[in-house]
Amino acid sequence: MRLLLIGAPGSGKGTQAELLAARFGIAHISSGDLLRQHVRERTQFGLQVKAYVDKGDLVPDSLVMDILRKPVVAARDGYVLDGFPRTVDQAQAAYAVAQPLGAEVQAAIHLDVAQDELVRRLLARGRGADDSAAVIKHRLEVYAEKTVPLLEYYAGREWMFTVDGAMPPESVHEDIVSRIRKLDTFSTPA
Ligand code: AP5
Repeated sequence: MRLLLIGAPGSGKGTQAELLAARFGIAHISSGDLLRQHVRERTQFGLQVKAYVDKGDLVPDSLVMDILRKPVVAARDGYVLDGFPRTVDQAQAAYAVAQPLGAEVQAAIHLDVAQDELVRRLLARGRGADDSAAVIKHRLEVYAEKTVPLLEYYAGREWMFTVDGAMPPESVHEDIVSRIRKLDTFSTPA
């Protein structure tokens, strides 16, 4: 099973990705976690991307693709991607790599949460430099400018759906699972 989670900062991508990975025995691959790990460990790559992550700007596509290639290829039983793609360019680049390998995405899940709730969650979490009020505001602007067009690009594809991300995490999870099971790709013939 190969899934994508798309949603604004704080919409619950990481939370839902963990639940889906445990439920279906697939790998949870988070672009943000991988980037933050490099920053924490002060690798050469981490030094290159730190300023982008701290300011809430998108890291350049080529760097993000570099960091994801290995875990995605290694995830032979499937994966749930959390935080990638987040632009139309990233989606097109990923499709060009995956399609010849027969590894293109099978479902894209959009988590929909109102902006005041997103801000409340992120301020309550306080993960680091990027959870300050000013950077949260910027991350939400970047989402509106760069990622909302991705939702429009995917709109109308039968494997893309939106769930209400404002419900408690377990309810969001069950909603996602029931929607996945209704997709032709995963439904078993009667
Ligand atoms: P990334 O780590 O992807 O951050 P984000 O998109 O801003 O999302 P968050 O991790 O903040 O939130 P989330 O949606 O995962 O929610 P979570 O489950 O944690 O990216 C960070 C940075 O890396 C980017 O700004 C960029 O610089 C760079 N980057 C990453 N990917 C990139 C890419 N593809 N291209 C370029 N740059 C990239 O939940 C948040 C909080 O809410 C938690 O406290 C949680 O407990 C709580 N919560 C979750 N669900 C619920 C619920 N249903 N009800 C109540 N509380 C909930």
